[in-house]
Amino acid sequence: NIATAIVLIGSYLLGSIPFGVLLTRWGGAGDLRQIGSGNIGATNVLRTGRKGLAAATLLLDGAKGAVAVLIVRHFAPGLEVYAAGASFLGHLYPVWLGFKGGKGVATMLGVSLALYWPAGLAFAIVWIGMFAITRISSLGGMSASIAPPVVAAMVGRSDEVLVFLGMTLLVLIKHRENISRLLAGTEPRSGGKKPE
Ligand code: G3P
Repeated sequence: NIATAIVLIGSYLLGSIPFGVLLTRWGGAGDLRQIGSGNIGATNVLRTGRKGLAAATLLLDGAKGAVAVLIVRHFAPGLEVYAAGASFLGHLYPVWLGFKGGKGVATMLGVSLALYWPAGLAFAIVWIGMFAITRISSLGGMSASIAPPVVAAMVGRSDEVLVFLGMTLLVLIKHRENISRLLAGTEPRSGGKKPE
């Protein structure tokens, strides 16, 4: 129906705003897609050496997912899972960048916090813990992405389990080059040099 269509399109458009690319360009730090891993996320913004821009990217890429869910919860309660899924897909496959978007870690955090906060909290704890131990951003993000569907399943929130599981799968698929580098032992630690 029309409400669902508006929710899907609006959330997709919100999620598709590539804050990393925009902030890096506006900050005079170049074209993010030509830097480091070429990814549009906060981890790669950090490789420009601009910590403030990286923090802002993390915050805004998370916030856009959370805001989509919160707006829809307010105006069309019951359709939040659609907002979550569509804003996440917008970040991963933005029309503005030829559908070549981010890997979904920050946006999944924001979406999880807004959809079911304990799932988002679990995500954040695993992310911070794994990153603290390994200093590898991709490993932290991939591990964290497994937490929300597990938490939602434990409390029997089946709609959320489905949408979270889909996100976990896409986060892992988007990290396939990182997985290859991890297996080869060449994935850079944060603050380290860019991958070739
Ligand atoms: O959130 C993205 C992160 O997990 C990996 O980014 O640039 O190291 O591929 P990158």
